[in-house]
Amino acid sequence: MKNELNDLYQEVILDHNKNPRNFGDMHDANHSAAGHNPLCGDHIDVDLKVKDGIIEDVKFHGAGCAISKASASIMTTTLIGQSVEEAKEMFKQFVDIVTTDPEEEIDTLNLGKLAVFCGVREFPARVKCASLAWHTMKNALDDESGASTE
Ligand code: FES
Repeated sequence: MKNELNDLYQEVILDHNKNPRNFGDMHDANHSAAGHNPLCGDHIDVDLKVKDGIIEDVKFHGAGCAISKASASIMTTTLIGQSVEEAKEMFKQFVDIVTTDPEEEIDTLNLGKLAVFCGVREFPARVKCASLAWHTMKNALDDESGASTE
């Protein structure tokens, strides 16, 4: 069962790497941040359009490995329609998923699409890859400099 799940998760990651969702520029973003993985030099930029506390749109662009790209892609599909507070909660949840001790059980029932990243904690070198887009998104939401008041 565990192997079947891993295969399924791997398929999801490969699919999002090959066909990243919400990849590209956003011209009317009101929250943006640039993310950089110092371990490899890869970078991902995240743009968000937030209105009345709700994330109406998210886009990302940049260059990174399959895990970082798939993670960014899945993140965008997870965040659209969520409130800023929910997005910050998901950020915490995601960081927990990829940093929890591999020996510890994770309840995947309520994780939705994020469950595909449970295996990352077994590969500490990939944790930064998987969390790059999430940290960048969090920085973008925390940065009010580009926020409009509409
Ligand atoms: Fe650079 Fe993964 S190797 S983000």
